[in-house]
Amino acid sequence: MRNASRVVLEAVASPPNPFRYGSPVTGANFTGRTVEHQALVSRMADGLNVSLVSPRRYGKTSLLLRAEGTITRAGASVVHVNVLRCPDLGHFAAALATGLAQTHGRRLRRGVAAASDFRRRFRVTPAVELGDDGKARFSFVPSLAAKDATSVLEDVYRLLAEGDRSGVLVLDEFDAIVDLNPTLPNAFKGLADSYPQVSLVVAGSRRHMMERLVHVHGAPLYGMTQPISLGPIDPDAMARYLVRRSAAGDKKMPPAIAGTIIGRIGPVPNDIQHLAYETFAVASGPIITDADIDTGLDQAISLAEATYSVTWHERPVVQRRVLSALAAQPTGEPFGGAFARRTGLATSSVQRAIEALVNDEWVADDGGLWHLTDPFLARWVQAEDPR
Ligand SMILES: Nc1ncnc2c1ncn2[C@@H]1O[C@H](COP(=O)(O)OP(=O)(O)OP(=O)(O)O)[C@@H](O)[C@H]1O
Ligand SMILES: [Mg+2]
Repeated sequence: MRNASRVVLEAVASPPNPFRYGSPVTGANFTGRTVEHQALVSRMADGLNVSLVSPRRYGKTSLLLRAEGTITRAGASVVHVNVLRCPDLGHFAAALATGLAQTHGRRLRRGVAAASDFRRRFRVTPAVELGDDGKARFSFVPSLAAKDATSVLEDVYRLLAEGDRSGVLVLDEFDAIVDLNPTLPNAFKGLADSYPQVSLVVAGSRRHMMERLVHVHGAPLYGMTQPISLGPIDPDAMARYLVRRSAAGDKKMPPAIAGTIIGRIGPVPNDIQHLAYETFAVASGPIITDADIDTGLDQAISLAEATYSVTWHERPVVQRRVLSALAAQPTGEPFGGAFARRTGLATSSVQRAIEALVNDEWVADDGGLWHLTDPFLARWVQAEDPR
């Protein structure tokens, strides 16, 4: 057996693993999505509002970042805020103001005086400090009132609309906005009417929440956005990507192997890149084989095992039974008697469990088939039967 330090040294010396998963991808790690990218960029340029919806990990943020790069290079001002990263209204308003300041980057890098002037453009004035990178960062008190946060939002719209550059406001994880304040979404209709030249792009994955906020009749943003939904990346494009990236890491991945990876763990691009990463990591020869995929899959599951075990045992037993049944066989009819019999539960209990599991994003019904959102977890559940 090779000794551990030698394995580590070999790993450090060899080309880095060319696959990426778990966070947004850019550049050579991004593939496909040409149609959606074009649709998004043209709407941003034309001042149209967009809602971008997909299940988790399909690539919303990666696509947003790519479109933002394109439109910024064309001269637009883009403010991007991840709403889920804002624990309260003060942080949300600060992220908006800081994002706006960064669109004025060069001018504000002239120092604290310029940043201090800039903050006076807000009716509710933020505190300002310059980071080590020379960029201005604004802050508000965490307990900022909803009307003050709305006023900052309005100022950001107004300032984005000034001048002849296109202005774009991107709110990623938009569904989390109701946790900040349930009345905040009501501001957007009026803002869209007052500043029609600003493009608002909202993105989210919790479909039911996005529907309640954006798509159903009576929702606060109803009728004001054009929907773009992200499906799985075209499997042929994804397979070509796997082959190409693997070659960049100095290992040959035959197209059939790329197809097997996608077939085993797809269609979610994050899962495909995850399995490709592990498969690449365990492959010891110059050509990746079927056996490497099996070993890579085992490795992915065993690395996550401790976490799976803890989070699994935190779920109520009824939910675990439903998860086990879905892991063994996804179903199109989870609320009928047949599925309930498979779980040994009453249909009403199954229904409640599924509602909770969908809410917590353990289960989804993409394509009409109810299944575990994490295919690695599904395989662990099947193998371990941890009920
Ligand atoms: N266009 C793409 N090309 C290649 N891989 C992609 C692409 N888009 C997404 N991925 C893969 O999916 C992973 C997640 O991407 P991203 O964070 O953009 O998804 P998301 O939909 O924003 O996820 P979440 O719902 O968790 O916010 C990336 O790390 C990458 O592995
Ligand atoms: Mg995202």
